[in-house]
Amino acid sequence: MSAPDLGPGDHGRWLLAWPIRPLFSWRQRLRDVIGMRALVVYESMYGNTRLIASNVADGLRADYEVTVVPVAGATAELVAGADLLVAGAPTHMHGLSSTASRQQAAQAAAREGSKLRLDPDAEGPGMQDWLQEIGHLGGPAAVFDTRVNGLAMLTGRASRRIAKLLKRRGYRIVAAPQSFLVCSHGTLLDGEASWARRWGMTLGAASKTYVQNAAEARR
Ligand SMILES: Cc1cc2nc3c(=O)[nH]c(=O)nc-3n(C[C@H](O)[C@H](O)[C@H](O)COP(=O)(O)O)c2cc1C
Repeated sequence: MSAPDLGPGDHGRWLLAWPIRPLFSWRQRLRDVIGMRALVVYESMYGNTRLIASNVADGLRADYEVTVVPVAGATAELVAGADLLVAGAPTHMHGLSSTASRQQAAQAAAREGSKLRLDPDAEGPGMQDWLQEIGHLGGPAAVFDTRVNGLAMLTGRASRRIAKLLKRRGYRIVAAPQSFLVCSHGTLLDGEASWARRWGMTLGAASKTYVQNAAEARR
């Protein structure tokens, strides 16, 4: 191996430098080849949280290979293969949706004259059931919800409960829980979808080194 060119005056230091360089580049190459995977899992009754999940996923794509699925599609295999898990759900009854609140949402959509449309995956399992069943896998995670525009202490925030349940399963929450807001008619406020994309980008950039190190430690 020839001495790396360290510039004028550095010829005595190559002995120190060459054992470090290959080690550094090996780690860097491993990171480049592996490609980090993020899994975005959402529950959505009327489509708002699905739209936010899709935009968060788009933002994450700058740094991750991303799969975005409703709870029903979030298999144990997908969860186990994810280096970063991102989970989101609508706020119901000041907290995370439940079987009862999901039934209420479905009944509201079924009422005659209702303009509410159920999402294709609305009647699958909810986030709460899924979180009870995913087992104790651990790893980095981030959470979000959709909720009515207003003080969080009055509206509640589903993301808090999601974070709590994920922590119980060994996950480490790597970003502050994020809410995306709807108006009183239940449609997303202007700009929330693009804010979700930006949040995804920021989350991707901010979490990548931590997630890479956690993934390397597990392999
Ligand atoms: C049964 C039910 C209960 C709700 N309770 C709350 C609540 O307590 N706080 C709140 O901010 N929003 C509440 N909402 C509004 C939803 O959080 C909001 O419309 C959300 O964006 C719906 O997401 P989705 O379209 O993905 O289902 C409730 C909606 C339903 C259907």
